Amino acid sequence: MTALAESFLKELEAVTSTVDLRQLRSRYTGKNGVLTGELKKLPTLTPHERAAFGKQINDDKVFIEESIKEYEKQLVSKEIKTKLARDPVDITLPGCYKKPGGRHPVTIVLAEITDIFVSMGFGIEEGPEVESDYYNFEALNIPKNHPARDMQDTFYIETNCTGASAQSGEGAFVLRTHTSPVQIRVMKHSRPPLRFIAPGKVYRCDSDVSHSPMFHQVEGLVVDKNISFANLKGLLEGFLKKVFGPSVPVRLRPSFFPFTEPSAEVDMGCYFCKGNGCRVCKGTGWIEIMGAGMVDPRVFRNVGYDSDIYSGFAFGMGIERIASLKYGIDDIRLYYEGDLRFLRQF
Ligand code: DAH
Repeated sequence: MTALAESFLKELEAVTSTVDLRQLRSRYTGKNGVLTGELKKLPTLTPHERAAFGKQINDDKVFIEESIKEYEKQLVSKEIKTKLARDPVDITLPGCYKKPGGRHPVTIVLAEITDIFVSMGFGIEEGPEVESDYYNFEALNIPKNHPARDMQDTFYIETNCTGASAQSGEGAFVLRTHTSPVQIRVMKHSRPPLRFIAPGKVYRCDSDVSHSPMFHQVEGLVVDKNISFANLKGLLEGFLKKVFGPSVPVRLRPSFFPFTEPSAEVDMGCYFCKGNGCRVCKGTGWIEIMGAGMVDPRVFRNVGYDSDIYSGFAFGMGIERIASLKYGIDDIRLYYEGDLRFLRQF
């Protein structure tokens, strides 16, 4: 054994921790370590001496590295043993299981609705939640002082620095009361044919077991040549049967919306009593599920479409309402309280 290896061994014997061992290793094999120092002597030797000396340094290097590796194994296992003796782990204790997160029922139902429409070739559009009076009302043929504005319990946004809200006037801003303004936004920047849904949050100043100041809607719009009311009925029937099962009866009742003519309220057979009459359907056997109709020619005029060439239909539904029917939830506030006992059921 060379003197170098011998002095290394002596030092190694004194090492008691992996930290010290690391230091020893870098002192011998590091860039400015003992072995590099030895190598620097090579140029001073004769070629004959050089070969033997080089081999010797190399042997020392291998010896040092192997010894360190071996000793490291022993030290590590010793350190683990000491640590375990100091902080014993009781492997009989229950683990701390982190329950995986789940999707919110509104998210689940929205994803289902989106999938169905996407499978029928619909695109997806979005619009802002802070909306101008023009898009939320005016362009949808809901003029100022129209009773439909009161029906929607609008939240107005303060727009001037005096803090006064510019209520119900041109230039006023609102929290959108429905997703219908997305119809206008899309039609204004694109040409027919159009086929899309627009899901999103809407706001109304209203709160009780069946109303929340914020809820979700999905709007739908189809515009092309020769679009008929029969197309609308067929589409919505197909959609509702996919969500609620193939045997669910669907009917359309005449109704009124300023942006559609004719307009309809879409009902489906009560999911709970199968049409016999119960508390949920108030004894009628039918549940109102969405509004729909043929796009009013005035709306087309507002976006610059020629209603002699194009026709279309629109529909709008509440997502919480569909989720409530699917899961039998009787209080809309449950959706927003974040109670895990409720949320874990989905
Ligand atoms: N925007 C209406 C509401 O929030 C729902 C609606 C009715 C949307 C008829 C439509 C429609 O697109 O054609 O009450």
